[in-house]
Parts: sequence; C-alpha cells; structure tokens
Amino acid sequence: MDIQWFPGHMTKALREMQNNIKLVDLVIELLDSRVPMSSGNPELSKIAQGKQRLILLNKADMADEKITSAWIEYFKEKGIKAVAVDSRSTASKRTVKQAVDIVVKEKKERDLKRGIKGRPVRAMVVGIPNVGKSTFINCYSGRSSAKTGNMPGVTKGTQWIRLSGDLELLDTPGVLWPKFEDQVTGMHLAMTGAVRSEVLDMSDVAVNIISMLKENYPGKLGERYGCNEDNGSVEIFEEIASKRGCLRKGGVIDTDKTALIICDDMKNGRFGKISFESPSDIDQ
Ligand code: G4P
Repeated sequence: MDIQWFPGHMTKALREMQNNIKLVDLVIELLDSRVPMSSGNPELSKIAQGKQRLILLNKADMADEKITSAWIEYFKEKGIKAVAVDSRSTASKRTVKQAVDIVVKEKKERDLKRGIKGRPVRAMVVGIPNVGKSTFINCYSGRSSAKTGNMPGVTKGTQWIRLSGDLELLDTPGVLWPKFEDQVTGMHLAMTGAVRSEVLDMSDVAVNIISMLKENYPGKLGERYGCNEDNGSVEIFEEIASKRGCLRKGGVIDTDKTALIICDDMKNGRFGKISFESPSDIDQ
C-alpha cells in the first residue's frame, strides 16, 4: 500500500466516512475475493450501523470460484448479501444492480407506505486502498469520476452519480484502513500485491506464496517454474532462482530479483485463479 496509516489519518478518514454515511441508505463494501477477511475492516460494522449493507467480492476474476461461492454463503448466513464481481467489466453492472434492488427492497416498501415515491436510493462505496473502489465507480458510472488517490481528507463537494433511474452513488469512496496490527492480514495483503515492498520483506512474501501454492494448489508451481514441489518452500525458492537465472557473481542467489518474479506472477494472476482465505479458516 502506498500510504502509511497513522492514528491521525484513521481519525480523519473515520470522521469523513461518518459524515458521508449519514447521507446514504446503503453502504457498498468492496472486499478482495481472494482475501475477504484481510481486506475488511471490522470498524465498518460500527460506522455503518443502521444502514443497509451490500458486499461486493471484487477481483472475482482472480479468485477461486468455489471459494468465492463459499464466501457468498458465509455472508448470507450472517444476513449480509454478497455478490462476486469484476469491477473492470461492465457485465458486473447488472449483478450489482440486481443485488442493490434486493437489499433496498424493504426500504422502498417502507417509503411507499409513508407516501414517499420515486426517491432514489443513495449509496456509498467503501473499502481499503487498492481494493478497486475507483475502478468500480468509474466503470459503473461510465466516466472517469472517482478520484483514484487513497489519501483521506480530500473531499470535494458532495456529488452524486446517477447509476440508474433510482440509484445514486456518492462519487467519493470511503477509504477504510487495513488491520495492519495483524501479521496474517499484512502478509495476505502483500501476497495479493496490495501492500508494497516497503512494508514487508518481499522474499518472506514470496516464500509464503510458495508454501500456500504447494499446500492448496498443488501442480501450479511445477507448471510455472518446472520445480520439484516435494521440496521445502525455501528450496523451491532457490530452485526458481537458478532456473530463472537470478544469480549474482559466484552463484549467490539474488533474493530480491527472485522474490519479485514470484510476487509479480501472483499479482498478475499467472498461477490462475487463486484464493488465500476460505471461510473454513475461520475458527468456529
Ligand atoms: P482503490 O480505488 O480502491 O484504491 O483501487 P483502484 O480502483 O485504484 O484499483 C486498484 C487496482 O486493482 C487497479 O490496478 C485496478 O485496475 C485493479 N482492479 C480493480 N478491480 C478489479 C477487478 O475486479 N479485477 C481485477 N483483476 N483487477 C481489478 P492497477 O491500476 O494495475 O494498479 P496496481 O495493481 O498496479 O496497483
């Protein structure tokens, strides 16, 4: 992640979001389908209290479809509607529109009973940096409207994007901060490529990617690098280094270069559709 989150940033982002949430009926929370736990922020439940909620499991094009379906079921059991989307594809618009209709149906019926007709549903998109908020808003609105910066505190005047006849989206997304204090969270975000090298040691991240692939997606490492998956993760890392010519003078492994290849392959989806977190990982 390009930004450092200090308590001051969080307070500011929180205040801004609390102000904006007052204006909306619905909070659309973007999570990364590959890491729905690590890309969420539990503070949102408090901030969005009393509002309808819809979860978009974004980047679904990069995630394991079976696991994404299990997440949808998991959220359903918690009473929260979730759908899988690829924010870059216009095909997701219909999925989102249908999901929004379901979530706000009750509110509309209440409005009707009170004699309020045709009032548009107002929604706000929230999520941690890099989860795809700007991409979603831009794609959905069909124009380049969302600011892509991740810094809190740059609110312009409130502007609404009319998505369809009866749905309006606040053009400024709410930026949530990741749970950096949790090491697994930081590692999982780094494995997806959302956290940059300044935050974590990239060779650690690469070795973790190897371990995860070895355990959950056997065959992927062999396919991509022609390495022996029966070896330990560090040995595989070294094997990849020599197969890819990441060696310094005297045959010493260039760990940075090797790590970059592995992390880059993961970030760009070269291992196929991969999920890092599954509902079965959650302690019952
Ligand atoms: P943000 O506003 O929440 O910070 O995120 P943003 O829209 O800037 O998206 C972050 C990156 O994720 C972008 O890649 C964007 O194209 C990509 N992205 C967003 N939604 C999806 C999706 O559904 N599927 C896939 N595959 N990618 C998605 P980028 O510009 O290349 O940035 P980076 O990855 O180089 O940081």
